[in-house]
Amino acid sequence: MDLVKICHIDKQLLDEKIKNFLDQDKELNPKYRNQLSSLLFSSGKRLRPTFTVLGSYFGSADKDKIYSLAAIFEMIHTASLIHDDIIDKADLRRGNKTLHIDNGVYDTIILGNYLVLLCSEYVAKYEFEDYYYNFFNITDLCHSEIIQQSLLFNFKITFKEYIHKTKNKTALLIAASLVGGAKLANVEDHELTMLYNYGINLGISFQIIDDILDFTQDKNNLGKPNGADLINGNVTLPVIFALKNKKISPKIRKLTKGSSTTDFNKCIELIINSNAIKKSKRVSKNYLKRAKKAIKKLKHNQKTILYDLLSELEKRTY
Ligand code: FPP
Ligand code: MG
Repeated sequence: MDLVKICHIDKQLLDEKIKNFLDQDKELNPKYRNQLSSLLFSSGKRLRPTFTVLGSYFGSADKDKIYSLAAIFEMIHTASLIHDDIIDKADLRRGNKTLHIDNGVYDTIILGNYLVLLCSEYVAKYEFEDYYYNFFNITDLCHSEIIQQSLLFNFKITFKEYIHKTKNKTALLIAASLVGGAKLANVEDHELTMLYNYGINLGISFQIIDDILDFTQDKNNLGKPNGADLINGNVTLPVIFALKNKKISPKIRKLTKGSSTTDFNKCIELIINSNAIKKSKRVSKNYLKRAKKAIKKLKHNQKTILYDLLSELEKRTY
């Protein structure tokens, strides 16, 4: 899935912008600068900045400014991953050691905060107040993590609660990235709303696939053990569907933080082999359809790229 290619992103300029942000602050400890740089230049999909550039195709904007904003969205996402890996006690990110393994938790939290604040300083310079108010809801990222923590090993979680959490966790930043680019390109308000709804639905679909891949993808491609979400107590859509299966459900419901690896692995195997994966894929496809519907009235020749992206996401295997 090469979204960067489909959206004709100038990868070199984007990389340059990300590098510049980190290089500008001379006070940043070189060890941390290198770590942030390694993480930002590891095998990430560059999804959020791609959406920012894509958003700009619906109007006209200064390329340099657009790519600066795009880089900021990649950094906000990266900061959230730094904190997420601490919360999830993850040893690996994209196949590499996570930052808190090297630095300890406290320094790494500060480093994550540093990155978010650096982004805030830059975003503030754009001064598009109504955009912040209506579309830039990144504090909801934190709400999603708080909700997720409060629901760990809670097998009563409903479909609605899962979708709400998923929207906050992933879809909002994707939608904000897309609309941010569009806003900077002076796209009209009613079109911003269509793009926003497209981003939200696409983002939910994207996260559902992530949650499926957590079970199904080859361990080496995933860069973490299969079923890591469940092991962490994160009850995702495949688990919600598996809980409806009377044969599997009692075994899953017995899982707690202290369950053995054998018990977890048995449940993970049962979920993979149940129809929960197929059902989750169906829901994910349904959100892609909603994304398509959201842009039905959008009149612009760049709209075909938005459709191409949906087709590509439908085929997503990593
Ligand atoms: C990855 O989830 C996590 C997120 C997309 C959001 C995490 C948000 C926070 C930690 C709130 C703080 C935010 C900022 C900006 C500092 P995952 O664990 O399902 O994905 P993974 O498998 O890639 O780890
Ligand atoms: Mg995680």
